[in-house]
Amino acid sequence: MTPRPTPEDKFSFGLWTVGWNAQDQFGGASRPWLDPVESVHKLAELGAAHVTFHDDDVVPFGSSDADRDKILERFRGALTETGITVEMVTTNTFSHPIFKDGAFTSNDRRVRRYGLRKVVRNVDLAASLGASTFVMWGGREGAEYDSAKDLFAAHERYAEGIDTVAAYIKEKGYDLRIALEPKPNEPRGDILLPTIGHALALIAKLEHGDIVGLNPEVGHEQMAALNYTQGIGLALWADKLFHIDLNGQKSIKYDQDLVFGHGDLFSAFATVDLIENGFPSGGPRYDGPRHFDYKPSRTEDFQGVWDSAAANMSTYLLLKERAQAFRADPEVQAALEESGVLELSQPTLSEGETLSDLLADPSAYEDLDVDAVAERGFGFVRLNQLALEHALGAR
Ligand code: GCO
Ligand code: MN
Ligand code: MN
Repeated sequence: MTPRPTPEDKFSFGLWTVGWNAQDQFGGASRPWLDPVESVHKLAELGAAHVTFHDDDVVPFGSSDADRDKILERFRGALTETGITVEMVTTNTFSHPIFKDGAFTSNDRRVRRYGLRKVVRNVDLAASLGASTFVMWGGREGAEYDSAKDLFAAHERYAEGIDTVAAYIKEKGYDLRIALEPKPNEPRGDILLPTIGHALALIAKLEHGDIVGLNPEVGHEQMAALNYTQGIGLALWADKLFHIDLNGQKSIKYDQDLVFGHGDLFSAFATVDLIENGFPSGGPRYDGPRHFDYKPSRTEDFQGVWDSAAANMSTYLLLKERAQAFRADPEVQAALEESGVLELSQPTLSEGETLSDLLADPSAYEDLDVDAVAERGFGFVRLNQLALEHALGAR
């Protein structure tokens, strides 16, 4: 039986996901425009709790202030009717040609100033809708050619842009945090802040970095041949996992945006295990929305759109069940123990022990039988097989 999602599961969808009309580089739209109000109703029926959107997903680019107000009023009406809330808002700084060389890092200063205005206007909207996260995906911040960017200046401008927005959030007293979303490439040949680690390095240099964290996406890390679970593990360790974009990706290629679990399923199991069960020996947890950033494939009609939205949630819930069974299994607990997974949380130096104490401890070095210690097998394969059997429901 596939579990039915409820709002307690905290599932969230970008309106640009189900609303994508499937236009791509090689062909026109294969589905008509979808009214965001309809999406809100449909997602509520399916059991989602939240939606997220770019400014332009709800209010078309270039709308007059009067039209904007009308559209937003109607949108707020759908939220009230359904009980769906807006947990995250993001800004489209990539579709209009003005952003062809980026927004915060465009070589054209006029574009940078315009981009900042568009973002700040959207911060006000995010706060007024009660969102807690403001995502910044800098899809056009990058280049195709190394000679096209002063890379020092580009990082300076990126930091300037983020810090300016963060300072504004603080000045206004908004209960909002910024989450940067790394991606290695596409649409730019190379995008700045290509991975979780790169983004963390930039955050560490910000003046207002305390309210800036990450929104890592499964497919983006996998496009760079990186391990998503390991990436969000680092972000959690750094107290910077503010939000997540779940989807599916099959190896290093264009951003596939498949349904969660329809790419590397076993890796998705590990991700859900970390999100739902936390680190094996405890530590910081991710408590935010389970947000999907996928695209219903171009082959699908509207039935397929809603089937794929539901598929994200049921896959997640199935994996959650399996991950809970995995952790609850006494054989798994024993295997974790045997493999030293639980021993890793023990500090390498004892409490109060200094490096000099370690240097003076012959049992740690001079008297250690290194060959005997090296003989140990860790049993990781058996542990992994237990995980696989749980993931497949064989246990
Ligand atoms: C992509 C990105 C976007 C962002 C979105 C939120 O590859 O297109 O994942 O979908 O998540 O723009 O800022
Ligand atoms: Mn993406
Ligand atoms: Mn994304």
